[in-house]
Amino acid sequence: MKQVIDFVKTNREKEKQPAESLGFGKYFTDHMFVMDYDETRGWHEPKVVPYQPLTLEPSSMVFHYGQAIFEGLKAYRTQDGKVQLFRPNKNIERLNFSCQRMSIPTLDEELVLDAIMQLITIEKDWVPDGEGTSLYIRPFIIATEPYLGVRSSKRYKFLIILSPVGSYYGGDQLKPVKIYVEENYVRAAKGGVGHVKTSGNYAASLKAQEEAEALGYDQVLWLDAKENKYVEEVGSMNIFFKIKGEVVTPQLNGSILSGITRSSVLQLLEYWNVPVSERKISIEEVFDAYYRGELEEAFGAGTAAVISPVGELSWNNQKITFAQDRSDNIAKRLYESITNIQLGKEPDPFQWTLEV
Ligand code: COI
Repeated sequence: MKQVIDFVKTNREKEKQPAESLGFGKYFTDHMFVMDYDETRGWHEPKVVPYQPLTLEPSSMVFHYGQAIFEGLKAYRTQDGKVQLFRPNKNIERLNFSCQRMSIPTLDEELVLDAIMQLITIEKDWVPDGEGTSLYIRPFIIATEPYLGVRSSKRYKFLIILSPVGSYYGGDQLKPVKIYVEENYVRAAKGGVGHVKTSGNYAASLKAQEEAEALGYDQVLWLDAKENKYVEEVGSMNIFFKIKGEVVTPQLNGSILSGITRSSVLQLLEYWNVPVSERKISIEEVFDAYYRGELEEAFGAGTAAVISPVGELSWNNQKITFAQDRSDNIAKRLYESITNIQLGKEPDPFQWTLEV
């Protein structure tokens, strides 16, 4: 039986920002979804309430041991004014996967989809329609039990907040990003939580990100933690290289996040009969391919970043600059196809979209 989601309407609607000043994750809509968990009631009392600060005990376990997970997906306004989601079930599945690894009680996937649908229905007017804009959906769970012993919490809060967004890196969505290959710090090791969308992964990446930014780069490219040799992923997206006509991306290995845009890219490339492989790829192989004139392109893929062409890649005092004007540019073709499907501008052969 469907659970009833209560609704408390705000009495103070916020002003909406123009599309060009949205940026990423700066503004939040009027309402949010909240649901709590405790041992006796399980997940209970799902409700949509006015967006507001949370009151938490300073001893809440999330502040001390970082038991927190999140997701990111988007709602798009189509040409004819409808609103649709992109593969929401994949995010919900991954949310539960993260729950399992982080010892958080899993959620009823139907209820989560219902919560997203109801919240977006209430906030429909917040879905922007400017070029490259969308409504970013951020579901997350935090451990709320007031307790300082190290074990998993017995209480949690699940929330969904919404943010109208433009491009993640600022400026044009297809602006090439500059990437620094990180060799001092590591992101995740096998057996750890690199393949899980848990907050600590991002906290652990900040130092390297800041150092790369100080050198003029947008993001870091992580290598494997054991040999510091194989390419893993970029700070906020999965990475792809096009070498001699074949698109190569690191295979999922337990320390790489299983991106939903990543899997959409793979599906589209196969559909187009573009040679594609998921395999181990060393940073040395990438640079060797470049020196042989065989490295044609590199790009990242992620929900927030969409498809981001790499403009520059720096490793071990060597630098690759990618020309962006190749007629066979696959990043641009992927960007256009994925965004066209999201915006209802071209057929959706995989049934990826879901109308709200
Ligand atoms: C996303 O692409 O949705 C992400 O979660 C990446 C980042 C903004 C943390």
